[in-house]
Amino acid sequence: MATIAYKKMLGGQKMPAIGLGTWMSTDEQELERALNAALEAGYRHIDTATVYFNEELIGRVLSKWISSGKIRREELFITTKLPVAGVHEDRVELFIKKSLEDLQLDYLDLYLIHFPVASNYVGAPITPPDQLKVENNDLLAVWKKMEEQVDAGRTKAIGLSNFNQKQVERILKNCRIPPACLQVELHVSLQQKELVDYCHKNDIVVVAYSPLGNPSYNNFLKTVGQDGKELPNNLQNPVVKSIANKYNKSPGQVLLRFLIERNIVPIPKSVTPKRIEENLNVFDFSLDLEDMEKLRELDRGEIARICDFAFFPPLKNAPEYPFSSQL
Ligand SMILES: NC(=O)c1ccc[n+]([C@@H]2O[C@H](COP(=O)([O-])OP(=O)(O)OC[C@H]3O[C@@H](n4cnc5c(N)ncnc54)[C@H](OP(=O)(O)O)[C@@H]3O)[C@@H](O)[C@H]2O)c1
Repeated sequence: MATIAYKKMLGGQKMPAIGLGTWMSTDEQELERALNAALEAGYRHIDTATVYFNEELIGRVLSKWISSGKIRREELFITTKLPVAGVHEDRVELFIKKSLEDLQLDYLDLYLIHFPVASNYVGAPITPPDQLKVENNDLLAVWKKMEEQVDAGRTKAIGLSNFNQKQVERILKNCRIPPACLQVELHVSLQQKELVDYCHKNDIVVVAYSPLGNPSYNNFLKTVGQDGKELPNNLQNPVVKSIANKYNKSPGQVLLRFLIERNIVPIPKSVTPKRIEENLNVFDFSLDLEDMEKLRELDRGEIARICDFAFFPPLKNAPEYPFSSQL
């Protein structure tokens, strides 16, 4: 079993330095096999969200592992997220309680605000596009409710996702419990140096989503009736491939190691047991300074952003939309 490093978080929690992503993993058999393979291989950190619609299945698998004595709850690090329809002070408790029930857990390790914009709530985690309206949201009021979830013991830590630097700063300046984590899109083509430096200076653990550059993203766009877009194709990048050859590693392993060297926690998603294992085996080598520099040069900035949430058009016009401007 691979030995995984840990990141210390504000509040004393320890986050395993790599996790398993589970977005677009809704096929029950496939996800169950993936989770079992991941836990066998040594993953202890699992990332999900209300809107991935797989918390119940993850809960069933975890409950089997815990009740059979193969794993203790304290060894696991489970993250889930408050959906856009829940970014309102009156809905935080409703959504976290439902996540806990579906995951069959007494507490979460980390609860994140998924996105800084709020939509109306019509009784479902995702408001259907024809009814979707953006609400004026008060992020500080929502954060207060997030803090209350820590007080109530429903989650050990709280954090943010898809917030820009100014939005993180606003929370930091006005909080009682500071965010322990920021989860954002981060890969070799979108390196977000300034944001990462800012978080590290403030002891906020940075978690990288789409750490490989999600080659399946266009499948998702199809499900919401949108055309595919050009993706960064990090796994096929000749520089990445040649570095992979040099270390006798795969391009995926080089992309993940690059983030780990930057003190960032990647959460690669895979439902393929061989890849699940491959993605974990990134703690037995390190990249030299010259290769780190070559990889740093692959940064293309904002243009390489994959997941801009523009698939729900009203979100893009919201005042708190995080990517168009630094609020
Ligand atoms: N907070 C947010 O807003 C947000 C947004 C997006 C994602 N996330 C989280 O971050 C996780 C990871 O991001 P992601 O799913 O967008 O993208 P990703 O992890 O960069 O890429 C996943 C894709 O890469 C494939 N893959 C995995 N390992 C591979 C390898 N070693 N070689 C080649 N291909 C490989 C997977 O295929 P197979 O599964 O078929 O093996 C899947 O198609 C998500 O699952 C989710 O938990 C959060």
